[in-house]
Amino acid sequence: MRILTGLQPSGDLHIGNFFGAIKPMIEAQDDNEMLIFIANYHAMTSNQNGEILRQNALKAAAAFLALGIDPKKSIFWLQSDVKEVLELYWILSQFTPMGLLERAHSFKDKVAKGLNASHGLFSYPVLMAADILLFDTQLVPVGKDQIQHVEIARDIALKVNNEWGELFTLPEAKINEDLAVVLGTDGAKMSKSYKNTLDIFAPLNTLKKQISSIITDSTPLESPKDWQTCKVFNIAKLFLDEKGTNELKARYERGGEGYGHFKGLLNELMLEYFAKARSEYELLLKEPNKLKELLEFGAKRAKELASVKMQKIYEKIGL
Ligand code: AMP
Ligand code: TRP
Repeated sequence: MRILTGLQPSGDLHIGNFFGAIKPMIEAQDDNEMLIFIANYHAMTSNQNGEILRQNALKAAAAFLALGIDPKKSIFWLQSDVKEVLELYWILSQFTPMGLLERAHSFKDKVAKGLNASHGLFSYPVLMAADILLFDTQLVPVGKDQIQHVEIARDIALKVNNEWGELFTLPEAKINEDLAVVLGTDGAKMSKSYKNTLDIFAPLNTLKKQISSIITDSTPLESPKDWQTCKVFNIAKLFLDEKGTNELKARYERGGEGYGHFKGLLNELMLEYFAKARSEYELLLKEPNKLKELLEFGAKRAKELASVKMQKIYEKIGL
């Protein structure tokens, strides 16, 4: 199966992102043809500071590589290194009815949040369609907010195919319905916008602060505690196997340990789980040349696919 994912280079990754999106993507690398890119053209719609855009893109690339994207198994690149996508974006624009974009929720939501109502933001789904269609993508794993964008890509592909014959593969959105939502330090869905995250690459003292902010009840230290309702337990079990989970349940039921102990344990578990990723991340950021080399390797492979597809498109459109 050919699977394509675009990753926004925005800010710090938290464990909700990891268990909800990154881990399944890493695991899918073995049995699928994965194409993964850092969507820095898309990031321009919400940020026009060049230095920040550049830094965010490199940090995101380092983070995903450190977490296990394998540039030999997957094709991994920076969106702006394969410029064919912008050319296709213009071509697809001719097949995109205004009404299709006017119905997009994401544009309205972002403008309501204060982003500039620019043409770039408005036509964002056409660029996303170009990302998807350029590579004959079959499956696009997405969060709920992006489903409509994949449907727009499909609509555009259908329109082009009607005109030119079977040129584009029709993509499908894949939502990880069966994966549980990771809850944050306050018990609501973990999300950057709620400021309730545990961040994978946070400095030690920041992570400690984030963990100590997890809300617990006032059961006294000696008393048995209810693991079922405990937010610390709920997060800690993500890092434990069945045996470890049962042992921790027993410690809750035994009493004699306070929530401070369990927060300390969670801190250790998280650092242990991400130890390799955290050191790899630091290493890649210290060696930007190695990072750029890995991205160039991926871009070269993506470009090979893109240029074959573009040749077919040029013939049809008369360029
Ligand atoms: P976002 O940056 O919030 O759009 O998140 C990127 C992806 O991470 C989403 O598409 C989800 O699949 C996943 N994700 C984000 N937050 C959570 C969460 N709290 N629990 C599970 N998955 C999440
Ligand atoms: N719009 C996606 C997001 O905000 C990122 C993205 C850009 C993307 N191009 C894509 C995702 C193509 C999947 C396929 O998360």
